[in-house]
Amino acid sequence: MEPPKLLVQGVSKIFRNGRQTLDTLASIDLVVNNGEFVTVIGPSGCGKSTLFNIVAGVDQPSEGIVAIDGDAQGTRAGKAAYMPQQPLLLPWRSVVENVMLGLDVRRVPRKKAEFQAHELLKRFGLADFAQHYPATLSGGMRQRVALLRTVLFNSSFLLLDEPFGALDALTRLSLQMWLLDVWQTFHSSVLFITHDVREAILLSDRIYVLSSRPARVLRVVEVELPRPRRSEQLALAQAVQLEQELTALLMKEQQV
Ligand SMILES: Nc1ncnc2c1ncn2[C@@H]1O[C@H](COP(=O)(O)OP(=O)(O)OP(=O)(O)O)[C@@H](O)[C@H]1O
Ligand SMILES: [Mg+2]
Repeated sequence: MEPPKLLVQGVSKIFRNGRQTLDTLASIDLVVNNGEFVTVIGPSGCGKSTLFNIVAGVDQPSEGIVAIDGDAQGTRAGKAAYMPQQPLLLPWRSVVENVMLGLDVRRVPRKKAEFQAHELLKRFGLADFAQHYPATLSGGMRQRVALLRTVLFNSSFLLLDEPFGALDALTRLSLQMWLLDVWQTFHSSVLFITHDVREAILLSDRIYVLSSRPARVLRVVEVELPRPRRSEQLALAQAVQLEQELTALLMKEQQV
């Protein structure tokens, strides 16, 4: 049988700083099968970005196993494309040059990288802005550029840490739909972080709800809404009920 894209088993993380220790993750179990869209939701400061850093190979767990494509031993760097909570576009590089960054890192020849970046910009509605500089883009466009850069680096496994956190509701909705299009086009596996219950329901196949720090998995829900998803589905009784349940669960955690 094909191994899952990502398997996280019994992952704990304790930060040590001199004599101080900070218990951040407490035995997290999580799986992303190939082609799945999986979301992690949890209160602020519970350890979501820490978990992502560990999956991306930027940090190591104190305990537990992280396996990508069944490999728990090798390096994880480069096996997932990681978009951090505050992605940086280089202000002195144009949109197309920013999108090419991931390929520069992979030492793809410039002409080929440029071609791929242009194709991606065309396919996902940014062709007219290829030569623009980040300072001249709206916030939503900047996030799109950062996302395309992430996809170009590695479209098979995307780690997205609250990519739409700072956007207004309408821009956010259009980017959510756009991300689903990207995901379906590339058959990517996605691990997504958000604070937003509705966003999690609209996008995901499965949602992991984390507790406050040290984060444990409080609940795992499969989202049974049909695909392709549309925002109207959030008004369906089953979506509304799930939203209320998850919101109540998170509210309880927030108060602790
Ligand atoms: N490198 C580090 N060294 C020490 N403590 C850290 C480090 N990175 C994160 N922490 C601490 O770990 C805890 C979890 O941080 P993390 O960034 O993972 O939370 P989060 O769930 O992503 O929060 P938010 O929703 O606000 O983004 C915080 O208390 C943070 O201060
Ligand atoms: Mg975070």
